[in-house]
Amino acid sequence: MASRKLAVIILAAGMGTRMKSALPKVMHPIAGRPMVQHLLDTVAGLEPDRMVVVVGPEMEQITRAVAPVPTVIQTERLGTGHAVAQARQAIGDFDGDVLVLYGDTPLITRATILRLLAERCDPANPAVVVLGFKPDDPGQYGRLVVGAEGLKAIVEYRDATPDQRENPLCNSGVMAMDGTRLWGLIDRIGNQNAKGEYYLTDLVALARADGACCAHVEGDPAELLGVNSRTEQAVAEAVVQLQLRERAMEDGATLIDPETVWFAWDTKLGQDVTVWPHVVFGPDVTVGNNVEIKGFCHFEGCTIADGAQIGPYARLRPGAEIGPKAHIGNFVEIKKSVVETGAKVNHLSYIGDARVGEGANIGAGTITCNYDGVNKSFTDIGKGAFIGSNSCLVAPIKVGDGAYVGSGSVITKEVTPGALAVARGSQMEVKGWADRFRAQRAKQKEG
Ligand code: UD1
Ligand code: MG
Repeated sequence: MASRKLAVIILAAGMGTRMKSALPKVMHPIAGRPMVQHLLDTVAGLEPDRMVVVVGPEMEQITRAVAPVPTVIQTERLGTGHAVAQARQAIGDFDGDVLVLYGDTPLITRATILRLLAERCDPANPAVVVLGFKPDDPGQYGRLVVGAEGLKAIVEYRDATPDQRENPLCNSGVMAMDGTRLWGLIDRIGNQNAKGEYYLTDLVALARADGACCAHVEGDPAELLGVNSRTEQAVAEAVVQLQLRERAMEDGATLIDPETVWFAWDTKLGQDVTVWPHVVFGPDVTVGNNVEIKGFCHFEGCTIADGAQIGPYARLRPGAEIGPKAHIGNFVEIKKSVVETGAKVNHLSYIGDARVGEGANIGAGTITCNYDGVNKSFTDIGKGAFIGSNSCLVAPIKVGDGAYVGSGSVITKEVTPGALAVARGSQMEVKGWADRFRAQRAKQKEG
């Protein structure tokens, strides 16, 4: 295998009209990253010699997302065959296998692609090898027409006879072709069909007409579902979530109710992590060992170190770094802040652009006032500091090591290490006032 050359063309120029979206279809996320990036990752493992992504006009988002992989623009979207033709210059004369992948079929695995490429090595030297599958609902997929002599043709659903539509063997869109024969065949694709498009699928019949043989390999439907609508996107998401949950459990995490835990493609959990129900991991989250995550938490772009306890109902936003054995409790939001070893932020707090020093205790309802409407500023809370409940720390501000802040304070000046700072109205008392007040009001009512 290693000695054969490989070129990869990913088709991503389709409008994705059925998605009803301003975002190009292949940029829609599955498990927190665009579909096309799932494919790029899989393809990178094949170490192709050449590679190109075919995009439509005004799809700079895709071009940026796939860089440094080059893109070519298909200015008019005239079908999948026409799209492959646009890659001709980028791939050039190529004495190896050319693999075509559809950007909207993102879940294919490397193992399946390798099986497809292996079939190209068959002594019969098939010009085209197509990846087929039998989904539960064959819907509008193209169908593979297979005879004793191998794959004979692919018929698109719209062009198929009722009998052909009964055939459960569908076209995944994934094909491996002989690079030396590809461009000659591509040139001959016509558009006399129901959609008036140049179908890549016509390659099979064209190759057969030349006397070449074609073949197919059957793949797992869960890997090959095409995403054309939001409903299909949700099905693909469910497939990936199932895999991610299984992987997390295999790697030593306990998921009390796996179906309610949502992962991103890159979530990293350590060993002996317990995740209670209804937790969402957005992209870029790393969790250490022996961490307990109670229910209803939402995380993205954060790290949680060994032995920390999080939640229930905690929200960790990008740049939250929760240190070893720290506690983050209910209704606490943390953004771009380091909470050092053993520090506690247990109830109803917002901590943003801050450092919470080792062992510090942040009382209920404490807020870092980090934003003045224009700029964000930093709050530095020292080691072992104690912030009384319902305090506002107006940034930029520093609370020294071991200092106390009295409850309900609005702190605007630096607090010296070891000091007590209280910044609130001082309490006064009027003896007997309440009794007199009530008596007076009762009398007014009678009168
Ligand atoms: C295609 C196949 C069908 C197969 C199905 C599998 C053809 C003619 N049909 O149908 O046999 O069962 O995929 O999911 O190939 N694209 C372009 N330029 C175009 C048109 C499409 O780049 O002009 C890209 C799209 O972005 C997409 C892929 O090609 O990633 C497939 O296009 P789509 O329109 O989704 O084809 P299907 O109708 O799904
Ligand atoms: Mg499709």
